[in-house]
Amino acid sequence: MSRRNSYVTIRRRRKAKRSLRIRRLGLILLGVAVAIAVLAYLYRSDLFAWAGAAQEEPAGEEPSSKEPDPEEPPPEQPSQDEDPQLDAPEPDEPPADPQPEPPALKVVADGDYLLALVTKETTLKKDYEPRDLVKIPAYMNPPRDLYLRAEAFAQLEKLWQAAKEDGVTLAVLSAYRSYSYQVGLFNSYAKKHGEAAANRFSARAGQSEHQLGTAIDFGGTKYDFTDAFGETPQGKWLAENAHLFGFAMSYPKRMEHITGYIYEPWHFRYIGVEMAEKWKESGLTLCEFLELQTQYWE
Ligand code: DAL
Ligand code: ZN
Repeated sequence: MSRRNSYVTIRRRRKAKRSLRIRRLGLILLGVAVAIAVLAYLYRSDLFAWAGAAQEEPAGEEPSSKEPDPEEPPPEQPSQDEDPQLDAPEPDEPPADPQPEPPALKVVADGDYLLALVTKETTLKKDYEPRDLVKIPAYMNPPRDLYLRAEAFAQLEKLWQAAKEDGVTLAVLSAYRSYSYQVGLFNSYAKKHGEAAANRFSARAGQSEHQLGTAIDFGGTKYDFTDAFGETPQGKWLAENAHLFGFAMSYPKRMEHITGYIYEPWHFRYIGVEMAEKWKESGLTLCEFLELQTQYWE
């Protein structure tokens, strides 16, 4: 075979091989296309669902998982029209009172009882008036007509005499105060200082030992109705001796958390000589001491 013939033969063979490869590739691609078509037909429902979801969930938006901000107002409740089952309050009902009711005051059955407990938790009856009041004499320097129950007054005279013998001159600045007088007094303090501030040094009507007719506010110094009264000769003498005549200091220093009232070194209440001596020995505040005694309530 000549060189030229052999070259032609080689070229023909190469061409035949190339066309065979192209046919094989065509057959493979056809097979793949048929396989895809069959799979697509078999899973067509899943494909539709996926395509739908992709349309509803736009790309780029994060799913909403943020909790409501604690400062945000709570979501509005459906109205009664929307859900008639809801137990909504009647429109005419008054709003619920957020303040718990204070405990009812215990009513003192008999104000004549010398040991009756008179505090912010108790009350004397509005119409309680002692029936044995006697007028405080002028030599006791009352600023107006003042009255005290007979037994307490008799003991006050003895106290007065003893103080005088010790060189101590006193004055009686307040004694019996009726319920209605106390109403006016407390209201005037409340107007000036506010109710809560007033109630630290002034009793509400019904809660004042002065309504018993056995309490006295002493004075006779430059420091009347002040803490400093306790440091005067009069204040010191009373603190040391008043119990010997049946009188107890009701509101001692630093006892407001127990008595409900600030220090009043001028305010004394008559409870009888024997009981006053027991009270002094006890070291208790007067209200604590009286709580241990028999009480009579309405
Ligand atoms: N100052 C006393 C608490 C009263 O008003 O009876
Ligand atoms: Zn007083």
